[in-house]
Amino acid sequence: MTLQQINVPDSIKSLPYHDRSETLIDTANEAIEAFMLADQTVIENFVTCDFHLLDQALTWIEQSHLIAGNRFCEWGAGFAVGSLLAALRGMESVGIEIEPRLVHEANELAQSLGSSSRVYCGSLVPRDVEGLEDIANEVRNVDTEEGDIYDEIGWEIDDFDLFFAFPWPGEHGFFEHIFDVRASTGALLLTYRGREGMNLVRKIS
Ligand SMILES: C[S@@+](CC[C@H](N)C(=O)[O-])C[C@H]1O[C@@H](n2cnc3c(N)ncnc32)[C@H](O)[C@@H]1O
Repeated sequence: MTLQQINVPDSIKSLPYHDRSETLIDTANEAIEAFMLADQTVIENFVTCDFHLLDQALTWIEQSHLIAGNRFCEWGAGFAVGSLLAALRGMESVGIEIEPRLVHEANELAQSLGSSSRVYCGSLVPRDVEGLEDIANEVRNVDTEEGDIYDEIGWEIDDFDLFFAFPWPGEHGFFEHIFDVRASTGALLLTYRGREGMNLVRKIS
């Protein structure tokens, strides 16, 4: 592993929300609720993170000058609220989501909010990640199919400075492995870990 743990202090929970994030989060929550009520078939792998805590974590990362550049990617984006919050901060922001119905909803939401963020439909897993097979056997809630979505986005994995993902319990190692093998040195991976809050690592070599 070439990942360095960065302690995210509990005090981030006292940080004020970004000016426009509360309206954004309220609008997103309404859209998510409407989708869930209208949807006939449940998308089992889709659950949402704590958007307010994510907003505070992004503020803390920004204020602590931890990011090396301006590109953000939400892995397994759902409604891509993380990407929207990153775009609020002027980041060049994209989401990757494998479920077409969620991609459609996320892009409608981004458009309705006038956000520059865009969600791409495909797998976050790039081709030929060394050593992925063993770790892929341990995940149940991530689609481990490989794809060429980064070609469509026009940016490679190592062009991004900050990734965000909400792994299911015990499955964060899958995301960390892809990040470790393919992200650029200096990039950050923020993951939401439920009751444990936010976890942040940097790739150091
Ligand atoms: C736990 S949800 C998180 C949604 C959103 N990031 C959030 O925090 O609110 C995980 C999402 O990852 C998507 N997903 C699973 N495997 C994927 C893959 N290989 N590529 C892209 N998205 C994937 C699922 O469809 C689901 O919407």
